[in-house]
Amino acid sequence: MSGNMNLTLKVWRQKNKDAKGALETHNVTGISPDMSFLEMFDVLNEKLISEGKEPIAFDHDCREGICGMCSMFINGQPHGPKRAVTTCQLHMRSFKDGDTIVVEPWRSKAFPVIKDLAVDRSAFDRIIAAGGFVSINTGNAKDANNILIPKPDADDAFNAAACIGCGACVATCKNGSAMLFVSAKVSQLALLPQGQVEKEARVMNMVSQMDEEGFGNCTNTGACEIECPKEISLENIARMNREYIGAKAKAKE
Ligand code: SF4
Ligand code: FES
Repeated sequence: MSGNMNLTLKVWRQKNKDAKGALETHNVTGISPDMSFLEMFDVLNEKLISEGKEPIAFDHDCREGICGMCSMFINGQPHGPKRAVTTCQLHMRSFKDGDTIVVEPWRSKAFPVIKDLAVDRSAFDRIIAAGGFVSINTGNAKDANNILIPKPDADDAFNAAACIGCGACVATCKNGSAMLFVSAKVSQLALLPQGQVEKEARVMNMVSQMDEEGFGNCTNTGACEIECPKEISLENIARMNREYIGAKAKAKE
């Protein structure tokens, strides 16, 4: 079909966590510019399966920018060259016919490779389990309207809650810091009345779990905010730092 693209992919293949990986070259032909990056991988995997070869392992679930599973480093950028999109929302029209595209997994100490492009992001789950919740009864949906919340706070909480836990912030950070993710998850609750009850314990426990998981320190490079598909703001990091200092001071009282 006219307008379709032929591409060369250099894809990271790694049998398991301990194996030594390497880039493998594949040619894909007849790719529609309207396909998503993951659909292009589906075409490649169908070809590999029909040739009796092992398909390339990669994570995905919703394919609509919600679940945060589709972690791929594309030409050196998490989720590829476009701002504010996930890999599943990246279309092949963002590339040119004849391009060579290098695809690698997230690379970070706290996200070990499971196989090929799939990494283990369960460190994020353990951080959430350490404090990213409320234990109070918040009632039914209609009860929420009985608690008045200033519009700017509601907006900031909503924007922080947009974090999908994809891990691009960690993968792009030269220190492997998870501060943007953790601060979004702390902020979305710290900004609301329902989050006040466990506020101090939450930030202390989540930060301590973050450190335990081996994420690096934040040195304010700002790469995380630029590469975040949900445009989570660095202001959340400042807010979390204030929450943390406040919680430490209170613990000393
Ligand atoms: S802060 Fe952004 S990049 Fe980091 S996990 Fe959340 S959505 Fe992904
Ligand atoms: S597959 Fe769910 S965000 Fe991409």
